[in-house]
Amino acid sequence: MTDLFDPLTLRGVTFANRIGVSPMCMYCCADDGKPTDWHLAHLLQRAIGGAGMVMVEATGITADGRITPGDVGLWEDGQIPAHARLVQALAHAGTVPAIQIGHAGRKGSRLPAWFDGPADPGWQIVSASDLPMGKFDAPRAMSEEEVAAIPGLFAACARRAVQAGYRLIEVHGAHGYLLHQFFSPISNRRNDRWGGDFEGRTRLTVESVRAVRAAIPEDMPLALRISHTDWIEGGWTTADSVELAKRVKALGVDLVDCSSGGIDPDAQKIPIGPGYQVPGSVAVRGGAGIATAAVGLITEPEQAQAIVAEGKADMVLLARAVLRDPYWPARAAAALGRVDAIKGPPQYDRAWGQIGKFGIRLETGLPLPPLPAPPGR
Ligand SMILES: Cc1cc2nc3c(=O)[nH]c(=O)nc-3n(C[C@H](O)[C@H](O)[C@H](O)COP(=O)(O)O)c2cc1C
Repeated sequence: MTDLFDPLTLRGVTFANRIGVSPMCMYCCADDGKPTDWHLAHLLQRAIGGAGMVMVEATGITADGRITPGDVGLWEDGQIPAHARLVQALAHAGTVPAIQIGHAGRKGSRLPAWFDGPADPGWQIVSASDLPMGKFDAPRAMSEEEVAAIPGLFAACARRAVQAGYRLIEVHGAHGYLLHQFFSPISNRRNDRWGGDFEGRTRLTVESVRAVRAAIPEDMPLALRISHTDWIEGGWTTADSVELAKRVKALGVDLVDCSSGGIDPDAQKIPIGPGYQVPGSVAVRGGAGIATAAVGLITEPEQAQAIVAEGKADMVLLARAVLRDPYWPARAAAALGRVDAIKGPPQYDRAWGQIGKFGIRLETGLPLPPLPAPPGR
């Protein structure tokens, strides 16, 4: 039986455990796409907390592929050094530095979520068709040539990510962003080669994945995040996801990260509850025979352990739980009796050594036993 704290190897990369920090846009603080001290502090904390992988937020493959002007991007070589600095800090903390690359399409040109409005100045948003999402502006439908250029832009971005030192790349095909806008029948009304049937609607995702795989080293794992269902009658389904997963597996995708929803927040009916997206991971993992990540309201150590132990996913990704508590993985190790599993940086030995020695949990305010002897490093 697989344990949450067992290592996982995908191609040439070994993750120390099965807990990953899910990509989370900060909508803030990037300097014309370059990650800054904010991103370093935010992500490094979570790497120190013990996650086996830390994934950088949805990173724009083009400037107009961002959601907000404050987002991280990797659309030009000048952005590589800022990413490399972040990568080095994460790797030093013992995690696998990963990056999600994507294009927001019709969900772009916005202010940060907490302001909820269009960016000013913004930019022309584009999509598969000229259908707006909810209260957002209507996008311009992309020409065939514009669509055909997208896989190359994904590949160029991935090449830069490799140069920066990232060790896993995830293509963002979820949450109603550009690739999802193409494969979902809710947002794609095209009747050229980029639309119509399943084949046409998934072509952009398939071609983008193919281009990225060809651009990155053979020993580097590639992930694809999808919305496994739209949760809308007549929309993209879990069965479609299984079929897509089979195809991208054949193209060299190693992990399908199974999220859901986002193509039309007004129409979707999501049965939100603990682990509500895990059935998508089970379906894709079993149906396509590919490694999966489960995500969404995974908050308890026992819950995460059960998902991995029962073979429902190869990895769990956490977002809000690790925002609340960057040390979630270390606390989970203590709670599950695996205090040996997360060592923490040696710089913290005088505090973390106690977890190993006495098996105490990390709650603040608890009376601590005397400090163990210095480790003698
Ligand atoms: C602040 C914030 C930003 C997010 N940004 C992204 C993102 O950049 N890319 C993405 O695929 N999902 C993003 N998400 C979704 C999370 O990765 C995750 O799938 C979702 O929050 C469900 O997991 P949770 O219940 O552990 O929070 C974001 C979520 C939050 C809370």
